[in-house]
Amino acid sequence: MSRQILVTSALPYANGSIHLGHLVEYIQTDVWVRFQKMRGHDCRYMCADDTHGTAIMLRAEKEGITPETLIGRVWDEHTRDFAGFHIGFDHYYSTHSDENRALASKIYLALKDAGLIEVKTIAQMYDPVKNLFLPDRFIKGECPKCGAADQYGDNCEVCGATYSPTELKNPVSAVSGATPVHKDSEHYFFRLGDCEAFLREWTKSGSLQDEAANKMQEWFASGLSNWDISRDAPYFGFEIPGAPGKYFYVWLDAPVGYMASFAKYAADNGLDFDAWWGKDSRTELVHFIGKDILYFHALFWPAMLKFSGHRLPTAVYAHGFLTVNGQKMSKSRGTFITAASYLEQGLNPEWLRYYYAAKLNGSMEDIDLNLDDFVARVNSDLVGKFINIASRTAGFIHKKFDGKLADGVANIELVGEFQAAAESIAAHYEARDYAKALREIMALADRANQYVADEKPWELAKQDAAVYRLHEVCTVALNLFRLLTLYLKPVLPKLAEQVEAFLAIEPLGWDDAQSLFIRHRINEYSHLMTRIDPKAIEAMVDANKQNLEPTPAPAPVRHAEAQAHAAQPAAAPVAETISIDDFAKIDLRIARIASAEHVEGADKLLRLTLDLGELGTRQVFAGIKSAYAPEALVGRLTVMVANLAPRKMKFGMSEGMVLAASGDAPGLFILSPDSGAQPGMKVK
Ligand code: MSP
Ligand code: ZN
Repeated sequence: MSRQILVTSALPYANGSIHLGHLVEYIQTDVWVRFQKMRGHDCRYMCADDTHGTAIMLRAEKEGITPETLIGRVWDEHTRDFAGFHIGFDHYYSTHSDENRALASKIYLALKDAGLIEVKTIAQMYDPVKNLFLPDRFIKGECPKCGAADQYGDNCEVCGATYSPTELKNPVSAVSGATPVHKDSEHYFFRLGDCEAFLREWTKSGSLQDEAANKMQEWFASGLSNWDISRDAPYFGFEIPGAPGKYFYVWLDAPVGYMASFAKYAADNGLDFDAWWGKDSRTELVHFIGKDILYFHALFWPAMLKFSGHRLPTAVYAHGFLTVNGQKMSKSRGTFITAASYLEQGLNPEWLRYYYAAKLNGSMEDIDLNLDDFVARVNSDLVGKFINIASRTAGFIHKKFDGKLADGVANIELVGEFQAAAESIAAHYEARDYAKALREIMALADRANQYVADEKPWELAKQDAAVYRLHEVCTVALNLFRLLTLYLKPVLPKLAEQVEAFLAIEPLGWDDAQSLFIRHRINEYSHLMTRIDPKAIEAMVDANKQNLEPTPAPAPVRHAEAQAHAAQPAAAPVAETISIDDFAKIDLRIARIASAEHVEGADKLLRLTLDLGELGTRQVFAGIKSAYAPEALVGRLTVMVANLAPRKMKFGMSEGMVLAASGDAPGLFILSPDSGAQPGMKVK
């Protein structure tokens, strides 16, 4: 019987680019959705950008645009990147939508009616200069445990301690540099503690992976605290009904965004919203997420749904995090790779889809993208094993048989074995154990290659008497190839489409595994997939290397990243022409020379301490001793290259470069900005 399945991936934040870490999730989900559709189920894949919060508000402000403009631009980027990796959403929306506002308000009011909302006054860190309550990630200071400087308000990157921002020593606002003050404000809380009995029950419903259910037990053991769902103005989000100046915390309306995306889609496609989201809905609701956001999806979200009269998730499937070459993605190593930069190198998105699928087993374990292994695996499996079957046999069908397959298959047992594998491969996909599915498929590919190697069509082709046999062998091989294509199609949808065009067949569905492929005219074989050139991988890693990129306003998310801003094109070329993108790689900043001193034993250098405002300070050794006395420099503003790779010099580390003019005439002239420029400002 055909199932009705509503599938979601987590909604990516609208303040950063999609990177290869994100893609683990979207590829994992997309494979599952495509598989379900091939099985003939009514499956719809919903997603959206997660657009609200302080980080987005501040980022827009910094760029001098409205948050609406910012999220519009990011939506364009995200949808382009996802399309580039063949992520086939049925609808990709935004949490900043009328539907989401209406649904979030409705759910909130239902929770309030159920007595689950309480109002309490709490003290929070407040930036008295920006007039803004500061999220934890926007407060920096010294770690209360180990004393490390420049740590965020929620955890220390040096010793790993977690704490609340009120515990930081010498805290400063990362927005203005001001010392935050404590300020009282009324907050709205969702009484999660009251939902404990329900949540304990729900944990046992089989909707969670075992690892996740265990995690839930830990959370119950340490007690469920009530959840602060409001934020004070100014905040980019939805105002809470009946609470002027109070906004829903981004995580309140974010999961509602799943529903809102569907609501819009349902309205546009004539579907009945309640049949999918109502209390008695028989639809399967399946959420794919990363393990870092399990708390939101396994506690808050089911409780919100339950007590606002909606159906509950059928499944919440969490995956692990991506590492690259065994380590956390790193900007300095060039392994923090954006989706766009992968595609820009001309790398085939299906290579990555295949590699991730080969590693995903449905558990919460982290998965590693080892770049050498990536090249080896894809080249060997896809090109060496899979494509090879067609490339060694299809040509004969054209040369000798006018493009037409034989009337029957000679080795019916082998073909039968391939057909019989359909159900076990399907079971692996269904269980999200793509690794197992692909192992089974590649084992079949090995058998197909063995068959071709044993039958040697290239030798049969030389013997006139063997022409009938040649026809049969190539027909068998292409039957095997067609079945392998079908089994790989959830992972390799574009390649499958190319194969369908080459074989001149309708789009393959799972049931087609049971039919034979005979008496059929195929098109001429043309090359289907190339090998990965390891040089392209190197180029991609180089393109993503950002040495010591200073973090601009930190975002309250784990994977926030800096984005290059558009720069003005340079005037008449005086050296080799470069692109705007090349120029944008140089992070020029206004710096205040906080101190300048002679360096013992160096006759050209001064040691400068440069103050970059929010970005901290840098030590730079500058060869300007001949032109400036140190005293004359202190307090001056200048321009520095802030993302130059640090260089170890005889006298210490040099962490950047100040800009100075020099020419044929004697003299050396430090650049300075017009008055009004502030330390840390970007120069572009
Ligand atoms: N906006 C929230 C989700 C709201 S859902 C109602 C969010 N956004 S995110 O952009 O940070 O992450 C989106 C998804 O990508 C999350 O499920 C997250 O776990 C996943 N990943 C982000 N970085 C990742 C890796 N490095 N590796 C694997 N998955 C990662 O969280
Ligand atoms: Zn510490």
